[in-house]
Amino acid sequence: MEIDFRSLDPTQCYSLMIRAITPRPIAWVSTISPRGIPNLAPFSYFAGVGSSPPTLMFSTSLKSDGTPKDTQRNVEANGEFVVNIVPYSLRNPMAISAGEFPYEESEFEHAGLTPIPSRLVEPPRLLESPINFECRVHEIVKIGSATAVFGIIQWMHVDDRILNGEQKIDPELVDSIGRMGGLSYSRTCDRFEIK
Ligand SMILES: Cc1cc2nc3c(=O)[nH]c(=O)nc-3n(C[C@H](O)[C@H](O)[C@H](O)COP(=O)(O)O)c2cc1C
Repeated sequence: MEIDFRSLDPTQCYSLMIRAITPRPIAWVSTISPRGIPNLAPFSYFAGVGSSPPTLMFSTSLKSDGTPKDTQRNVEANGEFVVNIVPYSLRNPMAISAGEFPYEESEFEHAGLTPIPSRLVEPPRLLESPINFECRVHEIVKIGSATAVFGIIQWMHVDDRILNGEQKIDPELVDSIGRMGGLSYSRTCDRFEIK
């Protein structure tokens, strides 16, 4: 099959891209509104970008009514966010937090999750997540309906329970999940090494 992307509508592009670019890691992004209400939402258009400076990127599309998502509004307002990693054990609260709630209605409460103060940034981090990256915005790039948020990592929290004997993060203990196409997700239990 050959596909001319130039002739596709956004829904067709989305469908093809999320089934082909797999598995996608999930940035579970916490932000805070100017009035101090925390927000939490998952984004799988997410990637590490570089290590010097340590940079990551996630991108938001628009809400179904064509307005910016709450995460984007908050990040544009205060320039800070936290990326929390999603382990398999938190898959259901993660899905709940993706619901389209009104602005300033906290997904932490809806999903039964705990926001706790971050070290350097105003948005809280997620207590239940084993890894949190506190970030400050480096640049926000608009491409059509997408807003790509590039952030520099300022601080990282790692739960000691996911460290191996050499004090390194053990992927098996992190047990992170990835997004596949449609409603499907992947786990990371089946790993192999290549020299
Ligand atoms: C696993 C998963 C990945 C998602 N990835 C994205 C994404 O990359 N970009 C996006 O705009 N929305 C994505 N969504 C949908 C948002 O999480 C959803 O629109 C959410 O309501 C946004 O919340 P907010 O308005 O509080 O920012 C994803 C949802 C799930 C469950």
